[in-house]
Amino acid sequence: QSPVTKTQSTSTAVIEIDNPASVKRQLAQLFDLSLRATVPDEPDVVPLVDACAAKGGVKFGDYQCNNAMGIWSKIKGKQTEFRGPPAIGQAIVNNLPPSEMIDSCSVAGPGFVNVVLSKRWLAQSLQRMLIDGIDAWAPRLPVKRAMIDFSSPNIAKEMHVGHLRSTIIGDTVARMLEFSRVECVIRRNHVGDWGTQFGMLIAYLFEKFPNPNDVSVADIGDLQAFYKASKVRFDSDPEFKLRAQQAVVRLQSGEAMYHKAWKQICDVSRAEFDKVYQRLGVQLEEKGESFYNPYIPGVLEKLDNLGLVEESDGAQVIFVEGVNIPLIVVKRDGGYNYFTTDLASLWYRLNEEKLEWIVYVTDIGQQQHFDMLFKAYRRAGWLPKDENAYPKCTHIGFGLVLGDDGKRFRSRSSEVVRLVDLLDEAKRRCKTAILERDTAKDWSEEEIEKTTEAIGYGAVKYADLKINRLTNYTFNFDQMLNDKGNTAVYLQYAHARICSIIRKSGKDVEEIKRSGKVVLDHEDERALGLHLLQFPEVFEEACTNLLPNLLCEYLYNLAEIFSKKFYSNCQVVGSPEETSRLLLCEATATVMRKCFYLLGIVPVYKL
Ligand code: ARG
Repeated sequence: QSPVTKTQSTSTAVIEIDNPASVKRQLAQLFDLSLRATVPDEPDVVPLVDACAAKGGVKFGDYQCNNAMGIWSKIKGKQTEFRGPPAIGQAIVNNLPPSEMIDSCSVAGPGFVNVVLSKRWLAQSLQRMLIDGIDAWAPRLPVKRAMIDFSSPNIAKEMHVGHLRSTIIGDTVARMLEFSRVECVIRRNHVGDWGTQFGMLIAYLFEKFPNPNDVSVADIGDLQAFYKASKVRFDSDPEFKLRAQQAVVRLQSGEAMYHKAWKQICDVSRAEFDKVYQRLGVQLEEKGESFYNPYIPGVLEKLDNLGLVEESDGAQVIFVEGVNIPLIVVKRDGGYNYFTTDLASLWYRLNEEKLEWIVYVTDIGQQQHFDMLFKAYRRAGWLPKDENAYPKCTHIGFGLVLGDDGKRFRSRSSEVVRLVDLLDEAKRRCKTAILERDTAKDWSEEEIEKTTEAIGYGAVKYADLKINRLTNYTFNFDQMLNDKGNTAVYLQYAHARICSIIRKSGKDVEEIKRSGKVVLDHEDERALGLHLLQFPEVFEEACTNLLPNLLCEYLYNLAEIFSKKFYSNCQVVGSPEETSRLLLCEATATVMRKCFYLLGIVPVYKL
């Protein structure tokens, strides 16, 4: 049997993390003791423990320890009592301290140590989770204050599907850090509310409304159309262009009328963004680019004093390691850019907000931007040289959103898609499907609204989160709203079914948690129990690599094991094992709900 390859880690995150509920870590501790005894002269050996994968449907154990081969290649030249990896494997087994976790161990093939866990221990661990609550399974990250910089659309420009991805992924990452007991997790909306586009917009606004008191929000309600019209003016009329450029200067020098116009435009955009956030249940704290403007000169001066800022072709630039092109921090015309703002905002975040970990969520197109930003900070000595040390900055990228045609996702009129419309459409389609069922008549209007929102918005989120964020993803309503396959709709049904089993039993779950006992005698009960207990280690992997798709995969497998194995083969209500099986149902629903919560999906209890 070959070793289980670890889920590929994409980020370089090496995080010392405390995760006592992880079965894998508990086993690794036991194997660590055994390895110390087996090869006392090799203190650097770290235990390699992984869950076993099924080979052709057969598993040789629940977990395996894969150290024997590596140790053999280290010691074979030296004087050793061992004749080869299998003998080392056997010694590892013999030296394992006794533990109630383990039922049996065996050595297979070239020295893999397979572990079968004790079903009593599995059952007790599950029962403890039911009593203590699933938060007792949370790991602990070594960070107190973190920030996720995500969503961050640009005022007056489209909030496009890329921003939707950033919003969905960013919120989940924030939830993962909160679950990992990071005391303060800031969800930061770094909106693009500063820049040359405002000169154009303000000049156009003044042209249309010479008296600024006449402008009402409704007049510029369709900001995208407003933006387009002003762009046409900008590109075609040199005189307008000049006025627009002057408007930028007057805005930046703080002239009241210009500031007021700027604020009006921002407010309209913000109201539009809020509709999306409200539907997604995401709460962001906005500090737009404009906020950092006053900090820019000071930060540039500090960098200059450190000797980082150079003159190049009339512009001020910073060179960083391994990149040929420099970062432009002051343009030839003396203006600042997107990059300058990020230099200043990072300074603020580290020094004023005292953040230890800052995670930026944007499309992979901006990877180099952030790479250069972090490198400039390292050059200045403002971030530790060791990328894994704190304070730490991480950029997590994601791929494009594609339409069915494989091209960038657009609406039929080939305009960008309005995100609110998209979410409303998801809800509308769910509603149609629900109203078609004959049970619909038993539902109140409010129930229908709540349920279709939970399912519709949840489906959009899940479709995005379930694929590795680095790959492009194809937006398809029919697929994401299918009630079969790996979709949120399927998962919602599975969860609602479990809830209905518990309801039908007529038993008080809180009561049987205390008085009943979990037993895992049937192989499908055991398989379900083991999968449930693997939640902490899967979560750890998802969290330390910032890969929500690993959680989705786990959740889908959980629903499958429940429905296709456990529920198909183990009668619950009315069976002699009823109490224990109800507890398994409750444990499954609890873990599912925690996954839903982490993915930002509202669970449905009845469907
Ligand atoms: N506004 C940018 C965009 O739409 C994203 C900002 C990301 N955050 C940052 N600190 N640069 O692409």
